[in-house]
Amino acid sequence: MAFHRTLKSKSGPSSSIIFPAFCIAAIVLLFFFASLISTNPVSSPEGLESVTKSENNDQNDQNGHEKFLYWGNRIDCPGRHCESCEGLGHQESSLRCALEEAMFLKRTLVMPSRMCINPIHNKKGILRRSNTANSEETWAAKSCSMDSLYDMDLISDTVPVILDNSKLWYQVLTTSMKLGARGVAHVERVSRVDLKENSRFSNLLLINRTASPLSWFMECKDRNNRSPILLPYSFLPSMAAKNLRNVADKIKALLGDYDAIHVRRGDKIKTRKDRFGVDRTLHPHLDRDTRPEFILHRIEKWVPPGRTLFIASNERTPGFFSPLTVRYKLAYSSNFSHILDPVIGNNYQLFMVERLIMMGAKKFIRTFKEDDTYFSLTDDPKKNSKLWKMPVSTMDEDGKQTL
Ligand SMILES: *[C@@H]1O[C@H](CO)[C@@H](O)[C@H](O)[C@H]1NC(C)=O
Ligand SMILES: *[C@@H]1O[C@H](CO)[C@@H](O)[C@H](O)[C@H]1NC(C)=O
Repeated sequence: MAFHRTLKSKSGPSSSIIFPAFCIAAIVLLFFFASLISTNPVSSPEGLESVTKSENNDQNDQNGHEKFLYWGNRIDCPGRHCESCEGLGHQESSLRCALEEAMFLKRTLVMPSRMCINPIHNKKGILRRSNTANSEETWAAKSCSMDSLYDMDLISDTVPVILDNSKLWYQVLTTSMKLGARGVAHVERVSRVDLKENSRFSNLLLINRTASPLSWFMECKDRNNRSPILLPYSFLPSMAAKNLRNVADKIKALLGDYDAIHVRRGDKIKTRKDRFGVDRTLHPHLDRDTRPEFILHRIEKWVPPGRTLFIASNERTPGFFSPLTVRYKLAYSSNFSHILDPVIGNNYQLFMVERLIMMGAKKFIRTFKEDDTYFSLTDDPKKNSKLWKMPVSTMDEDGKQTL
């Protein structure tokens, strides 16, 4: 609580507090990245696997001393119908938030054994040349098992995790019940620092934390409750289940030397009418900037003619990106359905493979502008200002992109 109060006190936090805090965060981050690099799953999957195995064995030996953190059995829409859960990206933000807390508390995170699949996200996202009706039916499942998406051993290398349908979890529950108040606490609105430092919590076998009923990542929105340990966005994408990584590796090998674009249209380009009947959108240039003729112009300076361009998109109009063939050799995940179909059971798995393929591209161009170190198709920021603006469809209305 002390840390919590210090940061909050007075109106303007003084630089004498911020600077040391920043230094500590920077050092922690540095160490974390150093450890990530040394166990980079992309560059040395074989080496990593043996490390993971041996570490897990050590961990199992120490189960008697291990302490656990439980956030509930659903990442998103806790206590609600799964219809309302968010897409994979949102749920990953939430999961990352819980993982960061587990790292901070030096506890094993008990992860939900299933992830909810949003039916909206499940209808979109796959770019197939034909038989869309059929493929929609195959995507009908509402949730999928967590370990069909992520490699638990690989995650445990950085943050120890177990699933809430595992034997170990049932043992923990039994033991914590036997221990009673010394074994488990059900907490709500207790700061991370308190959970770590207050002996009422720090010695417990199990902390059962009731996370925000909206969604888990709300717990990380409160800057004062943020742990100094931060996982990068790329952490969970690179923790994909082994069969997904294998499939991505196969496709990457077939693509050879390639660049990639991620074109987010679908739900992101939707407009709504204001009270004067005028269309408004949160990303005014998105629809324009993700059309093939604008993409061609935008990426000209980054992707030379003749390159293989891998396209991941939720645009479903057949042939939508064909105009790009004037300059590039196009490839989609649908080109590799003979490799994907035996492994991929839902859209989240497909997107995880596509992400790995995009991460392996020589040049990867995102949809939204995230910061100046990345290429993007549009200058519209990913984090929008919540302002509904009029969509811009031509060059003339806006000087940002000139032909
Ligand atoms: C965790 O706490 C919540 C709220 O108190 C409770 O409903 C739930 O049963 C608890 N779960 C476990 C595994 O202790
Ligand atoms: C992918 O499929 C499209 C459409 O059938 C074809 O034009 C393209 O050459 C294929 N790309 C690769 C890399 O095979």
